[in-house]
Amino acid sequence: MRIALIGYGKMGHEIEKVALQRGHEIVCIIDLNEEDKFSSPEFKSADVAIEFTSPGSVLRNYKRAFAAGVPVVSGTTGWLSSLDEIKDECENNGKTFFYASNFSMGVNIFFALNDYLAKIMNQFPGYDVRMEETHHIHKLDAPSGTAITLAEGILGNIGRKEKWVLDKNGATDELQIKAFREGEVPGIHTIIYESDADSIRITHDAKSRKGFALGAVLAAEFTKDKKGFLGMKDMLKFS
Ligand SMILES: NC(=O)c1ccc[n+]([C@@H]2O[C@H](COP(=O)([O-])OP(=O)(O)OC[C@H]3O[C@@H](n4cnc5c(N)ncnc54)[C@H](O)[C@@H]3O)[C@@H](O)[C@H]2O)c1
Repeated sequence: MRIALIGYGKMGHEIEKVALQRGHEIVCIIDLNEEDKFSSPEFKSADVAIEFTSPGSVLRNYKRAFAAGVPVVSGTTGWLSSLDEIKDECENNGKTFFYASNFSMGVNIFFALNDYLAKIMNQFPGYDVRMEETHHIHKLDAPSGTAITLAEGILGNIGRKEKWVLDKNGATDELQIKAFREGEVPGIHTIIYESDADSIRITHDAKSRKGFALGAVLAAEFTKDKKGFLGMKDMLKFS
């Protein structure tokens, strides 16, 4: 497959490595202040463009890629207020766009497992539920976005929990999240169900950025022959 990269930072470099390992060709790389490359024959020859840049530039990048007739797979976060505009482009103007705020296969499998376990545990009020997440010391936000998605999965399925709380002992209708910041840990999330008799734990432990890059390349392979607005739930059929 012929892949163009938009954004050549940490993720762009990691995606390039994974794409080459999977036998794809990188036909064009566009970084900051290289907008003229969107009209190049190399960019137009790409089957898919993979975009990991910054929130302020994503919309312009998508529009330039669409104008060149190239579908986009994007992982850039922090721009979702403009999501409807892109959905509209896909639904009404025949464009193709794949978006995921987290491309890691493992995390998406873990989301599905978390939802499924929460549905089961809704029938067992003897178990309380809490969450722990650990990340590197440079991380500014807490809890992590992944922890919030996991919490939403639990709150949506367990009737006895109303909201999540960070770093405090919650009331019985609150889901406690504890955030730890240690060393260079890429990201660990653990859900714990505990009764008087026993405990059940599920954990996702990220080793590096490689999982995000692999997910983005798999999404590009999936997107190549598709139309419309796509996401991880279209690609990963869990049920
Ligand atoms: N969805 C996921 O799974 C996932 C995983 C990791 C990171 N991210 C997100 O991806 C984005 C990029 O992450 P990163 O770690 O690679 O960041 P980074 O800062 O290392 O790289 C961003 C690159 O984009 C370039 N860039 C900025 N504006 C541009 C423009 N208008 N056109 C072309 N290139 C431009 C920058 O020069 C830089 O090289 C962030 O929003 C991050 O939150 C998402």
